Amino acid sequence: MEHFPIVTSLVRVALGGDSKRLNHQIQRLINALLADGDDQQAAALVKLINHKSRSSEIAPSRLTQSAPVASPNLDSLTPQTPVPVDKDSAAPLATVLMPDHILADLPLFPPRVQANVDALLMEWMNGDRIRAAGLSPSPSLLVYGAPGTGKTTLALWLARQLGRPVVLARLDGLISSFLGTTARNVGALFSFTNRYDCVLVLDEFDAIAKVRDDPNEVGEIKRVVNALLQNLDARAGQGITIGLTNHESLLDPAIWRRFEVQLAIPLPVFEQRVEIAQRSLDGDLEQVRAEARLLSWIAMGLSGAELRTLTTKYRKRRLFLEHQSTPPAHTMLQLADSTSVHIDSDVLEALRGDEGPLVRRLAAESFTYSDLAYLFDTSTKTIQRRVLDTASED
Ligand SMILES: Nc1ncnc2c1ncn2[C@@H]1O[C@H](COP(=O)(O)OP(=O)(O)OP(=O)(O)O)[C@@H](O)[C@H]1O
Ligand SMILES: [Mg+2]
Repeated sequence: MEHFPIVTSLVRVALGGDSKRLNHQIQRLINALLADGDDQQAAALVKLINHKSRSSEIAPSRLTQSAPVASPNLDSLTPQTPVPVDKDSAAPLATVLMPDHILADLPLFPPRVQANVDALLMEWMNGDRIRAAGLSPSPSLLVYGAPGTGKTTLALWLARQLGRPVVLARLDGLISSFLGTTARNVGALFSFTNRYDCVLVLDEFDAIAKVRDDPNEVGEIKRVVNALLQNLDARAGQGITIGLTNHESLLDPAIWRRFEVQLAIPLPVFEQRVEIAQRSLDGDLEQVRAEARLLSWIAMGLSGAELRTLTTKYRKRRLFLEHQSTPPAHTMLQLADSTSVHIDSDVLEALRGDEGPLVRRLAAESFTYSDLAYLFDTSTKTIQRRVLDTASED
């Protein structure tokens, strides 16, 4: 019998009554079966684990105050815990982050997204009440949206709120150049994670789809996707999993379904961009607000990350111009001209054109005369005259 050594260990720990080590050995067996392509046998074991963990979750004797989702009896992860490595390249399969070392601030999201984040956190923090009602807290969350919308930051922030370490794995890192070992890496990552009370964050989840596009690797990808599905299923009773992706449409529908909560993060709208920019600016409140508004106007269609980059660059440039009479709007135009981020072409054209039409357009888009006076370093009277003059020119 091929996996007899694992079965022997399994029986030994079962007789010893240590459920944590027992789970680990079962997980080993599941992954060994998956690596051999014995998907059905692996699925049968996953089903058994899930059934067992669900029934023990509901049992009143197992209710715990502090564990939001994870079952009891898990080890504590420390910075010294060795993480598994890719056997061929020796590269670590994940990074471990301790909650105290996570510096993520909650990104600014639209109210509907924020309400979902709050609800989920509430659920995870009150797992005991949910279990007492015969339910289980959502074990998994898929966060999707354009690059730079704050997905990774949100996942890390959630883990910090829960006071749990993060096992952060990038799926593109798991895909070994020796493709045969990818399914094994997926298995090793989950077996490791399931031993600890932690949040598993699977970043760049769509990486799997890129390999799927390779016609030479059909069999391999089937095995990798199966390994992921089985491991996600088996983890459902054991801890929180957060998947992150920029390309949700590339995800296998079967994987998509594995995540109980799916949260779309949109690009920030104007008012949110103003808030985001304001957080990164410094100085007189009125002036900061005017600067944040113009930066946000320029950053139409950009992500929170791109806007923050733009704002930081703006601050740096202004540091050396403080005692000169360069108007803030001119510094912003300079930046818009020299930035790699994608400024909307209509906005860029307006910025590069004559100042009169630009001032008039901004006034029509709810910039006040005093905002514009500060931004163009002139008086409100001059702004008023320019707006009226330009209007009469039309
Ligand atoms: N809505 C936002 N409010 C405040 N900061 C934001 C927002 N969106 C992004 N950021 C900031 O941009 C930076 C990058 O964000 P993050 O890496 O979390 O984005 P991401 O969605 O994971 O991007 P990618 O898809 O490229 O991995 C972080 O510093 C984050 O705080
Ligand atoms: Mg990210």
